[in-house]
Amino acid sequence: MDINHVTVIGAGIMGHGIAHAAIMAGYDTHLYDLSAPALEKGKAQIEAVVRKGIELGKVQDADGAAALKRLKTATDLGAAVKHTDFIIEAAPEKIDLKLKLLADLEKLAPQHAVIASNTSSLSLTEMAAVLAKPGRLAGMHFFNPVHKMKLVEIVRALESAEETLRAVEAVARKMGKETVLVRDSAGFATSRINAMIGNEAFFMLQEGVASARDIDKALKLGLNHPMGPFELVDLVGLDTRLSVLEFLHKSLGEKYRPCPLLVQHVKAGRLGRKVGKGVYEY
Ligand SMILES: NC(=O)c1ccc[n+]([C@@H]2O[C@H](COP(=O)([O-])OP(=O)(O)OC[C@H]3O[C@@H](n4cnc5c(N)ncnc54)[C@H](O)[C@@H]3O)[C@@H](O)[C@H]2O)c1
Repeated sequence: MDINHVTVIGAGIMGHGIAHAAIMAGYDTHLYDLSAPALEKGKAQIEAVVRKGIELGKVQDADGAAALKRLKTATDLGAAVKHTDFIIEAAPEKIDLKLKLLADLEKLAPQHAVIASNTSSLSLTEMAAVLAKPGRLAGMHFFNPVHKMKLVEIVRALESAEETLRAVEAVARKMGKETVLVRDSAGFATSRINAMIGNEAFFMLQEGVASARDIDKALKLGLNHPMGPFELVDLVGLDTRLSVLEFLHKSLGEKYRPCPLLVQHVKAGRLGRKVGKGVYEY
């Protein structure tokens, strides 16, 4: 299957990063968000990453300029998917919202287009069930920040077609990523473990085991983690992490119960770097 045009849905932390990877890989790309300010911010972040690549000598001037020319933005979903071959959904981690989006895509996108979801944890099989051809959907789980992280976790839903999985693999490879293939199960391989470590860190902070800074330092210097769990959750977004934990708790049981201190942070609006404050202040 020839893939020339990619549409990314949601211009947030992940969506803008995925759109950047798509234009650098040579795809004509539409970035869609229902919020115009979010779209503007996402576009500015893409331009900044391209500029940084040029400054560091990793990207040639002309290649950066050509990549940016491949980027279009839209607040109209129909316009964003009209001519698309491959859709990557990176809207918030809420199942109802994703199901509604998929129902809209069913009406608006060409029938041949593959639909990939960047969900960190939710059921791809449940999402696919909204579609007339459930085989066209699979999981394509990127990592944050997309331009630095090498992995894409490909998730096979119950009815994902082999052709769909091959297309997801081909797009990931063209973006310069390594892949692993996992079966559709709550939290896949990565989010399941990561959410567990991050939640445990909040329980430790709540119990006064150590300060956030010292827990982060302990995991970095003692266990060789590249980032501490609080630095990481501030990057991921505490609301996104809480949504993942709530789903894992429901699906896998008590050991994933979200720590009350994490819930409090979200209620206080401390959502992480994206709002300037999370566990730390920015
Ligand atoms: N944050 C991470 O580190 C991370 C890592 C891997 C996967 N993910 C997954 O990626 C997805 C997006 O997460 P994020 O962190 O980028 O979220 P985010 O909150 O940064 O961005 C979400 C964007 O979606 C937009 N949006 C809201 N409703 C929409 C709709 N109906 N249609 C289109 N756009 C809509 C918002 O305006 C916002 O710009 C989630 O499924 C999340 O689980 C996140």
